[in-house]
Amino acid sequence: MASRASQTTTSRLENLWALGLDESSPVVDEIPASHAGSWLGEGEICTSISPASGRAIGHVRAATLEDYDLIVKHAEESFRIWRKFPAPRRGEWAKALGEALVKHKRVLGALVARECGKILSEGEGEVQEMIDMADFAVGLSRQLYGLSMHSERPSHRMFEQWHPLGPVGVVTAFNFPVAVWAWNALVAGVCGNTVIWKPSEKTPLCAVAVQQLVNEVTEELGFPQVSFLACGGRELGEAIARDTRIPLVSATGSCRMGRELAPVVAARMGRCLLELGGNNAMIVLDDSDIELSLRAVVFSAVGTAGQRCTTLRRCLVQKTIVNDFSERLKKVYETLPARIGDPVFGSETLVGPLIDEDALDRFDMAIDTIRAQGGEILCGGQRVSPEQLPANLADGYYAEPTLVRAHADMPITREETFAPILYLIAVDSLEEAISLQNNVDQGLSSAIFTNSIRSAEKFLGTAGSDCGIANVNIGTSGAEIGGAFGGEKHTGGGREAGSDAWKSYMRRQTCTVNWGEELPLAQGVSFDV
Ligand code: UN1
Repeated sequence: MASRASQTTTSRLENLWALGLDESSPVVDEIPASHAGSWLGEGEICTSISPASGRAIGHVRAATLEDYDLIVKHAEESFRIWRKFPAPRRGEWAKALGEALVKHKRVLGALVARECGKILSEGEGEVQEMIDMADFAVGLSRQLYGLSMHSERPSHRMFEQWHPLGPVGVVTAFNFPVAVWAWNALVAGVCGNTVIWKPSEKTPLCAVAVQQLVNEVTEELGFPQVSFLACGGRELGEAIARDTRIPLVSATGSCRMGRELAPVVAARMGRCLLELGGNNAMIVLDDSDIELSLRAVVFSAVGTAGQRCTTLRRCLVQKTIVNDFSERLKKVYETLPARIGDPVFGSETLVGPLIDEDALDRFDMAIDTIRAQGGEILCGGQRVSPEQLPANLADGYYAEPTLVRAHADMPITREETFAPILYLIAVDSLEEAISLQNNVDQGLSSAIFTNSIRSAEKFLGTAGSDCGIANVNIGTSGAEIGGAFGGEKHTGGGREAGSDAWKSYMRRQTCTVNWGEELPLAQGVSFDV
């Protein structure tokens, strides 16, 4: 372990930061990608591939299960110290981290874009989301409020207080390789927990970069290590799920992953906070501002190349305007192939690549299924062929943004394909639209475009959208951190980031203090001995 934290590792770690800034920066040589007091990892070598070029940009060494065990031991030890810091002092950690992120916004945003293929503006936006979370966490560190209640007994005081849980497992996905860590770690950290982060195997470099920043900040403040890193594959996720030392597992990923993870955590009475798949719909009524809704559709459906859990998958348009709407949308989609390109170094790029070859295969399969089920492809539907791309991107994983005229009864419209495929479906009425929207397994994000207050309120009412997020005249993606983020049904029910999501990271204790000289029993019970 000591030899790995050598001078070589230090300079290789520095090289990492150049990746997003310089297209011709060298491939990062093997670095240990986990951290508990020092860099460690004796497992397999994983290669990070830039989805834009299909070429390797770095190599990391994963953690073995023995490395993992050591990380958890450190995280437990650290927790015992960290929990004793008053919460506002823990807020200083969040504050310093936010300041470090402000300084590194451009370079970290570019690294995010380089490793996961989202465009630079979205990469920087992701870092901004971390900064916003840091601000939020600073405030939160002085607002971990418990209620106080009036006791039914005389001379009694009753209140609740919140305590940290322990080391929290945080499993994140490739599409938001750093922001989702921030949602969890900043809240969990100011609540007094330590964090064990298992990032996606597809984006280890972003995780190593963030860990470096966190280490610097934590060491400078003289605090114990708050966030630990365990890079590796599925076996690490499974170890976290089984591990009785980890009271809470917060996991982002597919519904399938959640279905496998949740029973394992539940069987040991652990807690899960799940943020799983979405199948998000937008309802467009004929009284809406069409220009506005078109713009919202394109950002929600095509942004991040359709790889957000909040991506718009189904656009439910009122019959009276559907033909006109579809024509206008098609015109916008026809301009998009010219905007496919290098997400980091192409200044005109709006559409970057999918994450890997498997994602392209799933895109192809979905297109075949759409055709077989009677969908009409209005635009797109193809992989981008190497001839259409500059030579340096010819091996990248590009798919055309795809617009499909679909029928509500096509089974594929009820599935989430993590690619830029949008189903346009005609509906008769608001009621039909709401019922279609809710008629899927997932329940993450939803939107309505209308200028009618009555329709908007119906959509937000108890018989309206069944999703965790419901927007009026805003697309389905791009939520702010101030609200609680997450969704219902197969989306997993978890809530992260703002509002009172912090409560998931703490245990509630109800306390009753008798300061009198009698021992009255609740509910008037008498038990005299
Ligand atoms: C995700 O895709 O997992 O609301 C998260 C949004 C982003 C977060 C997406 N703020 O689209």
